[in-house]
Amino acid sequence: MQKVLILDFGGPYTQLLARRVRECHVYCEICPANSMTVEDIRDFGPIGILITGGPESVHAPGAPQLDPQIYGLGIPVMGICYGAWVMAHQLGGTVEASEQTQPHSRTLAALDTEHVLFEDHTPDAIAWMCRGDNITALPEGFETTAQTKDCPIAAFCCPGRKLFGLCFHPEVNLTTSGIGMLRRFLYGVCGAEGDWTMEAYAAFMTRALREKIGDRKVLLALSGGVDSSVATSLLARAVGPQLTCVFVDHGMLRQEEGDQVEAIFSQKDIHFIRINAAGDFLSRLAGVRDPEQKRKIINEEFVRIFREEARKMGTVDFLAQGTIYPDVIESCPSYVDVMRSDHKNGTLSEKLEFRELLEPLRYLFKEEVRELGRTLGLPESLVNRQPFPGPGLAIRIIGDITPEKVQILQKADAIFSTSLESARMHRQISQYFAVLTDNLTVDITGNDRQPRYTLALRAINTDDFMTARWTRLPYELLDRISHEIIAQVPQINRIVYDVTSKPPATIEWE
Ligand code: XMP
Repeated sequence: MQKVLILDFGGPYTQLLARRVRECHVYCEICPANSMTVEDIRDFGPIGILITGGPESVHAPGAPQLDPQIYGLGIPVMGICYGAWVMAHQLGGTVEASEQTQPHSRTLAALDTEHVLFEDHTPDAIAWMCRGDNITALPEGFETTAQTKDCPIAAFCCPGRKLFGLCFHPEVNLTTSGIGMLRRFLYGVCGAEGDWTMEAYAAFMTRALREKIGDRKVLLALSGGVDSSVATSLLARAVGPQLTCVFVDHGMLRQEEGDQVEAIFSQKDIHFIRINAAGDFLSRLAGVRDPEQKRKIINEEFVRIFREEARKMGTVDFLAQGTIYPDVIESCPSYVDVMRSDHKNGTLSEKLEFRELLEPLRYLFKEEVRELGRTLGLPESLVNRQPFPGPGLAIRIIGDITPEKVQILQKADAIFSTSLESARMHRQISQYFAVLTDNLTVDITGNDRQPRYTLALRAINTDDFMTARWTRLPYELLDRISHEIIAQVPQINRIVYDVTSKPPATIEWE
């Protein structure tokens, strides 16, 4: 399989760049820019190298550089923003610090449409420019391929040496036809053949898992989320009856979710165990209001139950996990400055005894995992599932949890989801859910004037869940949903819609 290497200087768009390359059906891996020697790169054998954005200036104290031999390997190299400045600087060009203070801006660029990266492009393009340095003179043998009003050298190349630089981000949608530029680099310069497909990956991984596992036993904790479900399907295809999946239903799943998971996985030729442990979880959570305490208890209880099941199996040879590539990247602090906090709270692998860990999705992005799920025959309703937190509705019930509150929330949440689905809005929203607050107000419809609950609805759109924008749902739709919930869930008499983005708020309420 052909591979592209992304040397990461810690820029904000590194993962996006990698996803774009994969979307072009070319496999790529991200490595911290200074972690690979020229020998390592030769061993890796990439068909092309991309150097990402990073610090603001090549002149900043301690600004990282690359081993200059990388430019002489005969492998096509494209530097983006800092990657371009560093290339120009290291190869003898003049790079000066710019006066601009804004880190990025939409800028009109004039492109040389004879140039291989910009063929078929209109000469004028909007480019998502990065600011920090300005290249004022190119190294010998290089030529300018794009310019803007403030930046006379906005893109450059040395065709003979297959070296390219862009002072803007082709991976960001704001750059007109930026993906086309990347595609031309991959196919027109690096000779990509587009051999990265999920069919090929499924076949390759099935063989690899069979070889590795032999006739031994595998245990997997199935949550019903996309990652663990796809990992289960892949392992089911590879080693079928040698796989035991334990699905712990903690009672705080969405309405009918436990039954749906069971219906899908009990059909497969694997050993599927569902443990209905709502009673255990709810009794330990009784009276607990603090969200972190809730998470801790659920995690402990989950590990306890899972460990009991594992013990019944005897020696576990392999523990399988649905770790995906962003988890791997984000657990390595040198890759990105701002890391998502680890919600996994101590993974199962640290707490169980087993011989080896299997992570068959370790190199896949979320969209690739979904595509692989489709390839393996999982239903759309499962592969398109939005993220659902491990502690489930426990962190969507503000304050203490009771079985009655779980039922109220399940019912209201199901009405919200079904209404979005009927309105065909659900595919356009990244995550949506209901929250049962602990705010009670008097209900004036009946004679009893009993106080009832306030329900909050939340819908957000995001690319990465690190930042998010609240979704502008139509008022009429919100009105219908409100009426329906009030009519069908008598314990609720007030509904609010959350219009805060992240930051400052988090996506979940607890
Ligand atoms: P926040 O609320 O941190 O959410 O903005 C970001 C994403 O993470 C999910 N989330 C969790 N997932 N255990 C999980 O497995 C948790 O405790 C947890 N808290 C938040 C949240 O649903 C969103 O997708």
